[in-house]
Amino acid sequence: MKFLKFTLPLFLICTLTLTAQNSLINPDIENRIESLVQQMTLDEKIGQLHQVSGYNENLKQQIQQGKIGSFLNVKGATATNEIQRIAVEESRLKIPLIFGLDVIHGYRTIFPIPLGEASSWDPDLVERTSAMAAREAAASGIHWTFAPMVDIARDPRWGRIAEGHGEDPYLGSVLAAAKVRGFQGKSLNDPFTIVACPKHYVAYGGAQAGRDYHAVDISINTLREIYLPPFKVAVDAGAGTIMSAFNELNGVPTSANLFTLTQILRNEWGFQGFVVSDWNSIGELLNHGIAATPAEAGIKALLAGVDMDMMGFVYANNLADLEKQGIISEKTIDEAVRRILRIKFQLGLFEHPFINPEFEKTTVLSKENLALARESAQKSIVLLKNDNQLLPLNKNIKSLAVIGPLADNRHDQLGCWHCEGKDIDVVTVLEGIQSKIPTEKIRYTKGCEVQGGSEKEILKAVEIAQNVEAAILVVGESADMSGEAASRSSLDLAGYQKKLVKAVYETGTPTVVVLMNGRPLTIPWIAEKIPAILETWQLGVQSGNAIADVIFGDYNPGGKLPVTFPRTVGQVPIFYNHKNTGRPSGSDKFTSKYLDVPVTPLFPFGYGLSYTKFKFSNLKVTVEKTDDMTKIFAGVEVQNIGDRIGDEIVQLYVQDVVASTTRPVKELKRFRRISLEPNEKKKVEFQLNTNELGFYNQNLEYVVEPGVFKIWVGPSSVQGLEGSFELTDN
Ligand code: BGC
Repeated sequence: MKFLKFTLPLFLICTLTLTAQNSLINPDIENRIESLVQQMTLDEKIGQLHQVSGYNENLKQQIQQGKIGSFLNVKGATATNEIQRIAVEESRLKIPLIFGLDVIHGYRTIFPIPLGEASSWDPDLVERTSAMAAREAAASGIHWTFAPMVDIARDPRWGRIAEGHGEDPYLGSVLAAAKVRGFQGKSLNDPFTIVACPKHYVAYGGAQAGRDYHAVDISINTLREIYLPPFKVAVDAGAGTIMSAFNELNGVPTSANLFTLTQILRNEWGFQGFVVSDWNSIGELLNHGIAATPAEAGIKALLAGVDMDMMGFVYANNLADLEKQGIISEKTIDEAVRRILRIKFQLGLFEHPFINPEFEKTTVLSKENLALARESAQKSIVLLKNDNQLLPLNKNIKSLAVIGPLADNRHDQLGCWHCEGKDIDVVTVLEGIQSKIPTEKIRYTKGCEVQGGSEKEILKAVEIAQNVEAAILVVGESADMSGEAASRSSLDLAGYQKKLVKAVYETGTPTVVVLMNGRPLTIPWIAEKIPAILETWQLGVQSGNAIADVIFGDYNPGGKLPVTFPRTVGQVPIFYNHKNTGRPSGSDKFTSKYLDVPVTPLFPFGYGLSYTKFKFSNLKVTVEKTDDMTKIFAGVEVQNIGDRIGDEIVQLYVQDVVASTTRPVKELKRFRRISLEPNEKKKVEFQLNTNELGFYNQNLEYVVEPGVFKIWVGPSSVQGLEGSFELTDN
């Protein structure tokens, strides 16, 4: 079989990478870096590689001596200015500090958690919320965010699934690039942009058993096709820094991994920024068992390509001795210093090291920011079920019960990594509903806790639910049940919540379940019995308003799941782009399936309903060849056949039917969120390049093979119009 070798497209890809990363290289800056490096002592150089969390007076002298290059977790214009002043006025070479922080889904104005916002399938929105977060953070003295988290996660037991964009490398890549563009803007030199740090490089989401920090053992093909793409795209978008991860990858910890940090990131992709370790991930090389001493850990990390040591104190305590002993060359240290100085120069920190504290007051939590928070929360909601059009509720409803541990809860709607988000900023679901209908019509009770409760509380909920026209039940997870170090072995609703849902359902009152959670949950009973279900994740400060907008039809939900919902935790890992196997599941016993549960998910990837209906028709697929390129065009008509305006997310999947290595049953290649008035019809056209249809073969070469491809365009990964096209090798 002949391979289509895509010489020209590959060339194009390299050019793009180099262009975006090359903008980090500026001859004038390079000269300034060189002149500074010439003047620096070894201690001052090592200082640039040292990052410390939080400030205290004992650190003042170290800043004066140039022994600290960066802080994390120091925030606020006044605090950062004061510490910066020590660096730029009292240190010998006046090199500014770079302040980093986890600005993951907002600074003070908290947007939906990343998994939630990924449900919007809206890169433009994601770019705008990231830009807004950057603005607030920059106004508060922050230069650098440890975001976006672009780890692909196929295992919802892993709590950090909440911080990323779900299971798909293509959706994850589009959103990763959008976030880099949002944070970094057009120029890092703009005082209201911050430098991005895609993390955790790499394959951190592949943790065995979904247990955080656990080992990752995957094929290089899976690494290249599933876990690396969002990082590559983020680098192509110009990301200035990357964070190495905690996990080992096939036996080599990622914070000491020459293959991923140098061969791939720098040599293949042309990355020109710097790499920061994760928190003490260099020190943890001892626990991994690849270094006997901190000094050895430092050697491995630095030589692999980790430039800055976050809170490991390994570089600060060992590099000088290692240099004196001739084990580490000053040249190696200089290279890391140059990379860090390059970003400091790019950020313009030498010219404007301080931020005007007035900006913070006018920027943070402004009206405009809150409007964007509401928009992003609305667009992130997924309607999972709506039997007999129970939703939206009529505002003339006579009585409504609002029940559940998360119904009037501020804190948990902020989700994990809520940065400077404050409980008082949050609008709860109860408050959102109170702003839509008269308070006297609403009866509220908590019903139980997220992780506890009592029969008595449930009885009270039943008593309320019995006497109303409809009930809204807000259940799910608390903020600390997902995120870092928050893996779960069960994906069920915790505590008394299941009991509460059943008890309310059994009253016979029409019930809507509003889920708030940081990961897919296993809710088969709810999916079967409860007529209307909204997946709202953790939507941030405007959560309650956005949910109430959807409940009463002021906003028609259009989000789609960025991750598969299993029926039971026993199906995990479960993801849409799986392989077919030699015995695809069927009625025969000897096929790939379970005895006790179907192989299909509870809710598939890409799924979500609307209050209106859409019709897909007229799929047309053509292959067009020019002298040097082949392109695939796929067009489809989408019509709103219901009676309200609504958004549809048009998704395009392909399958390489026969190839030299097995290919997934489907792979997402394009999508577009469109809005349609009742009866309106739009033609949606996609264009694919052949180089997007390739994969890594057995020799680990990226190839595009000729043959037949299936193509689907539709509203989810399990529905759509089917077509096909053929690639020929001449
Ligand atoms: C997390 C990172 C985070 C860092 C700094 C670590 O524990 O893994 O994602 O950026 O802490 O807060």
